[in-house]
Amino acid sequence: MRKREKVEIMIREAIPADAKDIIAFSKKTGAETPYLAYGAEGLELSEAFEELYLEDLMEKDNNVMLIATINNKQLIGLASVGATDKPKLRHVGEVGITVEKDYWGFGIGSVLMEEIETWAIESGVIRRLELTVHGGNERAIHLYEKMGYQQEAVMPRAMLIDGEFIDGVMMSLMID
Ligand SMILES: CC(C)(COP(=O)(O)OP(=O)(O)OC[C@H]1O[C@@H](n2cnc3c(N)ncnc32)[C@H](O)[C@@H]1OP(=O)(O)O)[C@@H](O)C(=O)NCCC(=O)NCCS
Repeated sequence: MRKREKVEIMIREAIPADAKDIIAFSKKTGAETPYLAYGAEGLELSEAFEELYLEDLMEKDNNVMLIATINNKQLIGLASVGATDKPKLRHVGEVGITVEKDYWGFGIGSVLMEEIETWAIESGVIRRLELTVHGGNERAIHLYEKMGYQQEAVMPRAMLIDGEFIDGVMMSLMID
């Protein structure tokens, strides 16, 4: 019989010291799934740039990056909200989420999406969360619909993957 290992999953805001792990995470997950905007090359950012980016992010009231770790070490999930400073648009947050493949199906994506919604409500600024998902990404679409996101539009040719055009599904959640 395989020995069961007790693991502790923690979710917290990313800090500049996480930059290196976030870049490595983007490379690993980019290679694991066709559903991200990048592939095995990951975010293609230097550690110094990512550190500054995270420092800047911590000052903003309409942006956040949350990370899920195992035993307070290994990064296994990440969810973010990005928004501009422009007064007419600063209430619109674009959501991104990734969980490492080995950990799919354990509810980590659901917890991260709940935390994103709670953060958005508490921000007092974000009134609309939106995202565009690969039309074939049934797992993600199911997750978003479970969280109350509505499909708003199907965008033909929103992505080009291995020479094939893919529909993008635009989804959103109003924060009231
Ligand atoms: C999408 C993603 C974040 C989900 O993370 P996760 O930790 O596996 O999510 P959860 O375990 O909380 O929930 C997965 C849900 O999908 C369901 N699901 C699994 N496979 C499915 C499928 N083929 N079709 C429909 N639903 C499916 C599960 O049953 C579960 O739903 P439930 O909670 O109602 O039972 C993760 O798969 C991922 O990172 N994918 C690659 C990156 C990506 O696609 N990001 C989104 C880009 S828009």
